[in-house]
Amino acid sequence: MRGSKFRIGILTGGGDCPGLNAAIRAVAKTAILNYNMEVIGIKDGFLGLIENRFTPLSYSDVSGILTEGGTFIGASNKANPFKHGSSSGRNRDLSGVVLRNVRMMELDALVCIGGDGTLTVAHRLYKKGLKLVGVPKTIDNDLRATDMTIGFDSAVVTITEAIDKLHTTAQSHHRVMVIEVMGRYAGWLALYGGVSGGGDIILIPEIPYDIKNVCEVVTERNKKHKRFSIVVVSEGAKPKGGRMVVKRVIKDSAEPIRLGGIGNKIAGDIERLTGLEARVTVLGHLQRGGSPTPFDRMLATRLGTFGCDLVARGEFGKMAALRGQDIKAVDLKDAVKSIKKVDPKSTVIKSAVSVGTSFGV
Ligand code: F6P
Repeated sequence: MRGSKFRIGILTGGGDCPGLNAAIRAVAKTAILNYNMEVIGIKDGFLGLIENRFTPLSYSDVSGILTEGGTFIGASNKANPFKHGSSSGRNRDLSGVVLRNVRMMELDALVCIGGDGTLTVAHRLYKKGLKLVGVPKTIDNDLRATDMTIGFDSAVVTITEAIDKLHTTAQSHHRVMVIEVMGRYAGWLALYGGVSGGGDIILIPEIPYDIKNVCEVVTERNKKHKRFSIVVVSEGAKPKGGRMVVKRVIKDSAEPIRLGGIGNKIAGDIERLTGLEARVTVLGHLQRGGSPTPFDRMLATRLGTFGCDLVARGEFGKMAALRGQDIKAVDLKDAVKSIKKVDPKSTVIKSAVSVGTSFGV
């Protein structure tokens, strides 16, 4: 039986990432300490709202989790109440079930911590009458209306460390080392990780590459006594006029396409066309793991507390966003209208080119 307190629900949707627990902690502690609210954790993202699975969160439940990776209330990157999949491939609209379950849980408001997919669903539920706000997270950093998402910085650190380590074998064995990183249809992870790790060639979806140019750079470096090259490839990279490589299609997922495999293709092409030895490392889910960086802990704390303030002020349909050095409220609809891609004319690309990095064009 609930008391008279305002009851707030928290869910984490989409792929996990470092900083989610820090964000849950920030929302919940603000709710308990500043607004005397009751807090409910929804299990496994929207799946918990569909299946009516939740747990009350006390102050002690969210204490001591700042440094922990993942999300202790679980997440799902399959569940979409508007298109709930089954293994038969048949989708059903269960948004009505979600609204009913929210009433049954007696939630007064919901905080959705998620990326593009989760917040698109959140925005649709908001339009159906659910009182909610968004907090942006994804290692991909492909969400609009915020300068950065929770998890991106931690993933960039993981990629940078991996490139640092690959340098030693590349140098010792005079090899071409190809490293494939995540990021879906945007190249932020490859770009920031690649520049930070001093990658010689960075291939991203926004700049389709020409394999001849890639091979030319590798061969030139080999001749000039730098007898190794590091190639950082985004999973969504594609050759000019070519296609992205799809690793698998998950039928019962709201976003069924999973990319992957371009690293192997590029290494094979380089070996065939240059005669140089190439090796591939696919970094995979290591990028989503581990403890959040101090930057992500700060960002999660700032965005999470602000998200709870938005709820307390009744400002629904909004997302907490990093704008410059500040945290601001933006409309959820602006955050999800399309994904945020790298601008090939941006100053980051310009700086990379200035220090001799090739984008394979
Ligand atoms: O959106 C985060 C992300 O890690 C992407 O970079 C990647 O394409 C995808 O999720 C992988 O999804 P899954 O964990 O379902 O394989």
